[in-house]
Amino acid sequence: MSRPTRPRSSASPRAYVCIFVASALLGACGGGDGESESESDGEQEPAVVEAFDGDALASGNKGLACDAQAVEARVDELLAVMSLEQKAAEMHGLQIAPIDDLYYAGGDEALGIPALKMVDGPRGVRAGTATAFPVAMARGATWDPALERRVGEAMGLETLAKGGNVLLAPCMNVLRHPGWGRAQETYSEDSYHMGAMALGFIHGAQNHVIASAKHYAANSVEDTRFDVDVTIDARTLREVYLPHFRRAVVEGGVGSVMSAYNQVNGLYCDENGPLLTDILKGEWGFRGFVESDWVFGTHSTIDSARAGLDIEMPQGLYFGANLVDAVVNGHVDEDVVDAAARRILRQKLCFGLDAAPDPGPAVVESPEHRALAREVAVKSMVLLKNADAALPLDADSLASVAVVGSLAGVANLGDEGSSAVTPSAAVSPIDGLRAALEGGATQLHELPQDALGEPELATIAGADAAIVVVGLTHEDEGENLPQNDLGGDRDSLQLRPEHEQLILEVAARNPRTIVVIEAGATILVRPWADEVEAVLMAWYPGMEGGHALADLLLGAESPSGKLPVTVPRSADQLPDFDHEGLEITYDRFHGYALLDRDGAEPEYPFGHGLSYTSFAYSDLSVSPARLEGGGELTVELTIENTGARAGAEVVQLYLGAPDAGVERPTRALAGFGRVELAPGERARLRMRVLSEELAYYNVVDEDAGAGGWLVTPGQYDLWVGASARDLRLTGEFEYAE
Ligand code: GLC
Repeated sequence: MSRPTRPRSSASPRAYVCIFVASALLGACGGGDGESESESDGEQEPAVVEAFDGDALASGNKGLACDAQAVEARVDELLAVMSLEQKAAEMHGLQIAPIDDLYYAGGDEALGIPALKMVDGPRGVRAGTATAFPVAMARGATWDPALERRVGEAMGLETLAKGGNVLLAPCMNVLRHPGWGRAQETYSEDSYHMGAMALGFIHGAQNHVIASAKHYAANSVEDTRFDVDVTIDARTLREVYLPHFRRAVVEGGVGSVMSAYNQVNGLYCDENGPLLTDILKGEWGFRGFVESDWVFGTHSTIDSARAGLDIEMPQGLYFGANLVDAVVNGHVDEDVVDAAARRILRQKLCFGLDAAPDPGPAVVESPEHRALAREVAVKSMVLLKNADAALPLDADSLASVAVVGSLAGVANLGDEGSSAVTPSAAVSPIDGLRAALEGGATQLHELPQDALGEPELATIAGADAAIVVVGLTHEDEGENLPQNDLGGDRDSLQLRPEHEQLILEVAARNPRTIVVIEAGATILVRPWADEVEAVLMAWYPGMEGGHALADLLLGAESPSGKLPVTVPRSADQLPDFDHEGLEITYDRFHGYALLDRDGAEPEYPFGHGLSYTSFAYSDLSVSPARLEGGGELTVELTIENTGARAGAEVVQLYLGAPDAGVERPTRALAGFGRVELAPGERARLRMRVLSEELAYYNVVDEDAGAGGWLVTPGQYDLWVGASARDLRLTGEFEYAE
């Protein structure tokens, strides 16, 4: 039994919601039917604001709107007239080097079949100059699938404008360990959160082009990625490493999936029949095509074709003449080629690639897209610490501010591997602060260096506040490119020693020291966190990052980001991370689930993030108290902005199964909702969980890989809170067969 699909009706049970209750914000969330507070018996009762409208998120996704009948008929017609050579020509890239930044595959002018034109990536379009958005991990910190849909839509439009029709994103590999070199490219350590964010992206991007869910599967080590064999037991694979890919296919109608370089349980992903055929195409009913990862991602002709690889990228070493020979010689059935060609042609027709509109160059880095990049950067930054309300800085009362550190003067966009994007301009932290303070009385001391002499230290001591910008760059983490030794996985999760030293020197001289961290994932802060007043995680904030940072530091905006990855007190609290060996085992626990199981205290928990206002949680209701198979749980609570300024809260729903009879996480994320509220405003937030989402994967026969999803009868615990450890309300319910 495979897990049923969440219905996509407008009343669809969406366990994440995005709610703008304040009437001024109504609808900014893509269809929320929030109403302002309603009058009833004197006391204002907040209107119940329904779950996020799934159809609003999915609207326009060509992968879902495919008229199966007409498309299949047209595919039949084409296949009937295509030779073996013409069908096989659909199944590989044209050449190793891109043409005008695009990787071509297939296409046949005589038959009117357009070529696939693929381009990276998860941060924006890697062709010429384009909008450089904040990295995916930053967008994960917004906990806002509707916003991520808008990002996907913008990137899809820019892909079209560049002549592309396949966008090689989202990268959606669970962040098993924050030391992974490409952590910045993915959204989360948690499968549920990942699925929601990736779904938003796919729905948006596929309004324009084919998206590609990558890298399928279990690609979470960078340095050994081409050969590492990842051992994962069936339950761990199903419960931790696959559910978000399944949502991309079953709910997102993703048009393509990219197979990963690594091996899973002894088989390279391009040759992995259980992953590609049994699960992806069989159980999940995937109707798109599987393309390999580049160059080293295809390992054979016969085994790959039989396993379910549909396109070898970026060239045709295995799937060119060799594939035709393999069919002619009887090693590969021609129906394998027919099946692959059918998938490829189906997506080309479904997305109308032969008549793709050209939006024109003006959409690239348009004012709207740059404004979106800034909005995302503002909503992604996470206020980790804010002692004595050090932030926001009030420019009207600040005579001088020192901005310190080598990263303060550069626009630190992240990895320079395949996810790189080149904007025509980008705003550094100093640029952003200078622009925001222009014309005001505050003097800005710009010290964009990591080594300070006495004069600089005296300047810092004399300032009303000191902002230290530290973190990583593409030199410290990123895709491990054969041609250089930059990037790769991280051995240490701490800052560079010179940055830790810088923070301590500044903090010793200025009591109001604020640290801004730029990185792709977790940074350990223990050595210096107690010496500073505020810590803001900025990630790699994109081309508008400097403006967004100034908006938050100076209070034009209130921070609302929440951690999509746990910040432990020590790396010892995390799983082992061997990024040198060629064999590694992924077990079922990492991130917050591991710290919960071990009773370990994080520095900053999964889902943590402070605001400039405060929120009260009350009146939890859970119904039905006795949930039965096929039913759905409705969880409601009242959330109130109890502070003096507007802000957004991401409310999180966690479930636990103490009666499960098998080991399960203490609590697992099962819903979330982002609520924007004016001061004093309240919302009655409603989240829903399908009974099937309570299931665990019961492995009946490990060798046969047989198993099924099972919901054990008994009590389930429920928590609602502001992070995985800041749990404000608790409840319970019973599940009965
Ligand atoms: C790279 C990456 C993949 C990218 C592809 C094309 O090796 O692993 O994410 O899309 O090649 O650049």
